Amino acid sequence: MERIEVKEVSYSYQNKYQKIEAVKEVSCTFESGKLYAITGESGSGKSTFLSLLAGLDCAESGVILVNGENLSEIDRDACRRKQISVVYQAFHLFPLLTALENVMYPLELQGISRREARKQAAECLEEVGLEEKILGQYPKMMSGGEQQRVAIARAMAAKGKILLADEPTGNLDSENEAHIVELLKRMAHEMDYLVIVVTHNPEIARQADVCMRMKDGRMN
Ligand SMILES: Nc1ncnc2c1ncn2[C@@H]1O[C@H](COP(=O)(O)OP(=O)(O)OP(=O)(O)O)[C@@H](O)[C@H]1O
Ligand SMILES: [Mg+2]
Repeated sequence: MERIEVKEVSYSYQNKYQKIEAVKEVSCTFESGKLYAITGESGSGKSTFLSLLAGLDCAESGVILVNGENLSEIDRDACRRKQISVVYQAFHLFPLLTALENVMYPLELQGISRREARKQAAECLEEVGLEEKILGQYPKMMSGGEQQRVAIARAMAAKGKILLADEPTGNLDSENEAHIVELLKRMAHEMDYLVIVVTHNPEIARQADVCMRMKDGRMN
């Protein structure tokens, strides 16, 4: 059972001229088994909020508890490797690694043997519906939808069951988008993941179990 508790979290960007309050006193809770959608206008703070949950940035005030542990007090790299995976709109696959090697990467980081990593990676790729012929292909040889599924398979291969996705279907056609949404739903409902997806897409928001909206840094 995974649980993220967000309490009064704020974050601002400071440049030479101004301070931008991107996230303002957000409080909310996320639990495994559910697909959460976060919508909101461009600039409302969605990506910033997700990067706080992922431990990529540190909340300026407030606390984020991941399974009861304060994210600012644990080794965030370790936490991220163990528990939380992030999938972005621009896939972030390693260009010089094949689909299989991309998915093996987090497994090998966990110290799993190459042979076992290969087996588990192939299973994850099968789980996201990719055919075997894709395994040896490099990202640039794959379609956008295929690349996004590899990215999700790689997130699955990481041990944790928290998946954060920032506009994961942003540049996919509607058919591929439907595949990804089905996959995210299946991860939440059948595999007991905690899935949070940031999206502009009303259809994804409609299919989510919980739909939240950000406006000017606040969560409604
Ligand atoms: N690195 C940065 N430095 C300064 N300001 C930033 C930075 N990143 C984001 N911002 C500002 O913080 C606010 C929230 O940005 P954020 O990227 O979280 O919005 P978003 O809801 O994800 O938007 P979009 O839907 O366009 O992706 C915006 O006003 C943005 O201009
Ligand atoms: Mg964004």
